[in-house]
Amino acid sequence: MKIPFGTITVTKKSKELIEHALQSNRLSSGRYVREFEKRFAELVGVKEAVALGSGTDADALALAVLLDYGAKRGDEVVIPALSFVATGNAVLQAGLTPIFVDVDRKTLNIDPVKIEDVITTNTRAIMPVHLMGKPAEMDTINDIAKKHNLIVIEDAAEAHGALYKGKSAGALGDMAAFSLYVAHIISTVEGGIVTTNNPDFAEVLRSLRSHGRACKCESCVLNTASAYCAKRFRYGENEDIRFIFERIGFSSKMNELEAAVGLGNLEVYDDILNKRRENMYYLIENFGRFAPCLVTIGKETYEEIGPHALPIIIQEKAKFTRTQLVNYLEKSGIDTRNLFSSMPTQCHGFGYLGHKIGDFPNAEYIGENGIHIGVHQDLGRKECDFILNTIEKFLQNHA
Ligand SMILES: Cc1ncc(COP(=O)(O)O)c(C=O)c1O
Repeated sequence: MKIPFGTITVTKKSKELIEHALQSNRLSSGRYVREFEKRFAELVGVKEAVALGSGTDADALALAVLLDYGAKRGDEVVIPALSFVATGNAVLQAGLTPIFVDVDRKTLNIDPVKIEDVITTNTRAIMPVHLMGKPAEMDTINDIAKKHNLIVIEDAAEAHGALYKGKSAGALGDMAAFSLYVAHIISTVEGGIVTTNNPDFAEVLRSLRSHGRACKCESCVLNTASAYCAKRFRYGENEDIRFIFERIGFSSKMNELEAAVGLGNLEVYDDILNKRRENMYYLIENFGRFAPCLVTIGKETYEEIGPHALPIIIQEKAKFTRTQLVNYLEKSGIDTRNLFSSMPTQCHGFGYLGHKIGDFPNAEYIGENGIHIGVHQDLGRKECDFILNTIEKFLQNHA
């Protein structure tokens, strides 16, 4: 049996829309992108969604909005030490400084108790990550943010479909960044999207994705050079407003083909989400028997996990290494991925920030002992049982 890590569903509707876009010759950002943004905002339950080139850009552009609201380059953003490296990269790409906080080993998410210790007069935002789709402890995080006048940006890249106390991930802070890469529940192949209830933030995001353009009219923010700009003469007869740039921007637009894949994907979103959730919860419910050697995350009564992938952490009691487990799973046909790393101490690029091994013990432990495996919609009960039986057999041989 083969258990690949991820999959993508390209529906008949996506193929029809792609064909239509190709026929119309209108391929850069346009009608489909607008429609995808509208539908995504409705799904999350927010006023605005701004589609971008990647989930990393979604993080970076949401952070760059802060520069319009008083943040200076170099100001600080609090993030968990453990995440996919894009979270830390994005803070630097936005011109800000990542301040790392260790994670809770049970939830894999930022430890809320440790956040206030790192807040300084230069802190501007907290960016929690809902790792593996498990919502971060948002009530505590929002309370801390309110007390210190900080913006909260969710890194919801892996949290499509997650709910926290009845609200969707993506609607739990001031802004949220989703990845739409193929590994995720809603995908545009490559892509990202920021959700927010703040129309002013959305306007800045539209400018940021289009090089920092001044004009907010559709043809300018979409960079459709041949289109007529309604505000063209605002700066005077001879000035082309499409070439006036109010802020340092990015080039991060989604194209019509990507939006077509996403629109088709949204049609089957409920089926995909339900199937993945069924797989994830079945695996979590049946995982207890692997303690004390292996653990995964648990589900609280007030949350629904966005079923991204199943994390597995090898515990101190185990008499085997991660490499041994990974080799066995891979040989049995089960794809695995490491459970990321402690960005400040296990990712070389962040070395210049001066952190040392031991500063983030939980993130580092997971970085050395964690893996994750797929729970996607092409898998069913038979495949989940195969995963459980394979782990069982491995443990019997390594007791
Ligand atoms: C937590 C997290 N943040 C950000 C990203 C970046 O998304 P992308 O790969 O679309 O740039 C990812 C990627 O999956 C992620 O897992």
